[in-house]
Amino acid sequence: MTSVAIVTGASSGIGAATARRLAAEGFHVLAAARRTDRLAGLVAEIEAAGGTAGAVACDVTSDESVAGLAAAAEAAPGPVTLLVNNAGGARGLDRVESGAIGDWQWMYDVNVLGTLRVTQALLPALEASRAGTIVIVSSTAGFTVYEGGGGYTAAKHAQTAIAGTLRLELCGRPVRVVEIDPGMVKTDEFGLVRFGGDADKASAAYAGVPEPLVAEDVADCIAWCATRPHHVNVDRLVVRPLAQAAQHKVHRVGL
Ligand SMILES: NC(=O)c1ccc[n+]([C@@H]2O[C@H](COP(=O)([O-])OP(=O)(O)OC[C@H]3O[C@@H](n4cnc5c(N)ncnc54)[C@H](OP(=O)(O)O)[C@@H]3O)[C@@H](O)[C@H]2O)c1
Repeated sequence: MTSVAIVTGASSGIGAATARRLAAEGFHVLAAARRTDRLAGLVAEIEAAGGTAGAVACDVTSDESVAGLAAAAEAAPGPVTLLVNNAGGARGLDRVESGAIGDWQWMYDVNVLGTLRVTQALLPALEASRAGTIVIVSSTAGFTVYEGGGGYTAAKHAQTAIAGTLRLELCGRPVRVVEIDPGMVKTDEFGLVRFGGDADKASAAYAGVPEPLVAEDVADCIAWCATRPHHVNVDRLVVRPLAQAAQHKVHRVGL
């Protein structure tokens, strides 16, 4: 039977690329996000390429909505072996002294509690498959801090803490936990969400960077981890563009 992979935040960027890639790897993909029009387009694209997928409207900040995702997983045409907790993002680049509580709240709700809620809801199905994998898309912000990044790095540190804790707690059970920590990835919406729709500010982050990572690069890492033999647990995969040696050390050309 075809294995089922669930990808949250599949309506854009890394999530959409991961859904496409996992479908190409032979998974039946359940693509979850709030924007169902985007998901419908993605599913059509996957099917046109010979894969199979379904779209599930899901807001990871809602218990009811995530229960709907779990119900869709139960009705899926095969064992649920893979969950990719990808939904998330940043809001603002404010210093701690002036950061907006609402932005911090949003980042904690989506990145951290969203991961918790979806993981709790899908864990029984993953365990029942006897070969489950939980991927948590955290970030290099999950282990490094930077000025203006307090709210985002706090949320990503928390996601990283969930990954580590869960791996300990699930030891001896047939579910592995993989943390993916990307550095700078040029996706269409991450910066727009961070800067409230300001395209100039969003693109400035990538200015002069020869080749930032793209969503497909991260999807490739996720697919590689998820398709290792099940006894191989890649605990954490840190991936950055060649031009980014560290959070504070980025090679930029022509600036
Ligand atoms: N881009 C980077 O440089 C980078 C680097 C490291 C880590 N990451 C992490 O990678 C993940 C994906 O980032 P991206 O660059 O692909 O950003 P993106 O294009 O903005 O994608 C974010 C996704 O999250 C979904 N989402 C937001 N709120 C949601 C909610 N309440 N319920 C369900 N889905 C929700 C969005 O879908 P809807 O709006 O349709 O719900 C969207 O599909 C995030 O966790 C991000 O923190 C990104």
